[in-house]
Amino acid sequence: MSAARPRIVLTGATGLVGRALTKALITRGYEVAPLRSRTQGPGGMDGASGWLDTSFLEGAHALIHLAGEPIAQRWTTAAKERILSSREKSTSLLAVDLAFPAPELRYPPKVFLSMSGINRYGIHRPGETLTESSAVSDEGFLGQVSAAWEKAATPEGAGSERGIRTVHLRTGMVLAASGGALKAMLPAFRAGLGGRVGSGCQQVSWIRLGDLVSMIIWALESPWVEGPLNAVAPHPVSQADFARALGRAVHRPAVIPAPAWAVKLLFGQMGAETLLADLAVVPVKALEGGFTWSTPTLTEALPVALGE
Ligand SMILES: NC(=O)c1ccc[n+]([C@@H]2O[C@H](COP(=O)([O-])OP(=O)(O)OC[C@H]3O[C@@H](n4cnc5c(N)ncnc54)[C@H](OP(=O)(O)O)[C@@H]3O)[C@@H](O)[C@H]2O)c1
Repeated sequence: MSAARPRIVLTGATGLVGRALTKALITRGYEVAPLRSRTQGPGGMDGASGWLDTSFLEGAHALIHLAGEPIAQRWTTAAKERILSSREKSTSLLAVDLAFPAPELRYPPKVFLSMSGINRYGIHRPGETLTESSAVSDEGFLGQVSAAWEKAATPEGAGSERGIRTVHLRTGMVLAASGGALKAMLPAFRAGLGGRVGSGCQQVSWIRLGDLVSMIIWALESPWVEGPLNAVAPHPVSQADFARALGRAVHRPAVIPAPAWAVKLLFGQMGAETLLADLAVVPVKALEGGFTWSTPTLTEALPVALGE
């Protein structure tokens, strides 16, 4: 790393992934400049009103865009609108600014890493192994959100056509005890009330937080990585195996099943599209590109994730 620290503009810096990524980038010698979402003013952006402090991007090496309304909430009509528009509008605002910079933005970032989700492959793809070359799908609300998100990151005439290396981070379930799905599951599993969800046969594609952060930095530093990147561990597991492994990790039995109807009753469409989704996503680009996971298997990952 050179003496002048490359500046990385980061949205979503206050979130689960953003906090861990900020620390790792700084340790690696980068300067991190958090661009605050929902803020009209210096150092801020607001997708809803189209406000962006363009000058904040000046001279930055890369823009990493993570911000978005949390998915894990009851999907009322208003919540769905926030989930979709917080991603579509802010991503489009940033991507258009990078591709067609205002005259005062003389040195815009040339690397754009934009968060996405494995739901770019839809919700239910039983029996398939999904790689970056697999057909995408707009199935379900999350499929539509992911499609709109990625489309917004590459507006017509932008991306590589304008010399901007854009990566869509198609991220699986992020494992860390400090947030996200694992934090939500832990109380039940620690009380011995965990177990398989639905049939338990559906495939779960996951990545430990520390490995996700390493993969984002690897994508940042690998000029050949472009387009979709499956940000998952190399070994998806069935949901029943996931429940068993989590039970073992917290030293409790995990034999209390949650039927699909109960999941739908309790969590509605959100539960159906997350807990009952069936997506075996494999990170072929990262494997072929030489990325190494510190915890490639769930058995290795869970004990570490419980401390993250
Ligand atoms: N965690 C996972 O398992 C997972 C899996 C796949 C994809 N992802 C995606 O990765 C990104 C980061 O995940 P995370 O777990 O770090 O999320 P998180 O902890 O919920 O943080 C989300 C970030 O987005 C900002 N934000 C929240 N609501 C917003 C809104 N309505 N408009 C604009 N910004 C908003 C928050 O910043 P302020 O509150 O400071 O504005 C926060 O920094 C998200 O887009 C998420 O959908 C996460």
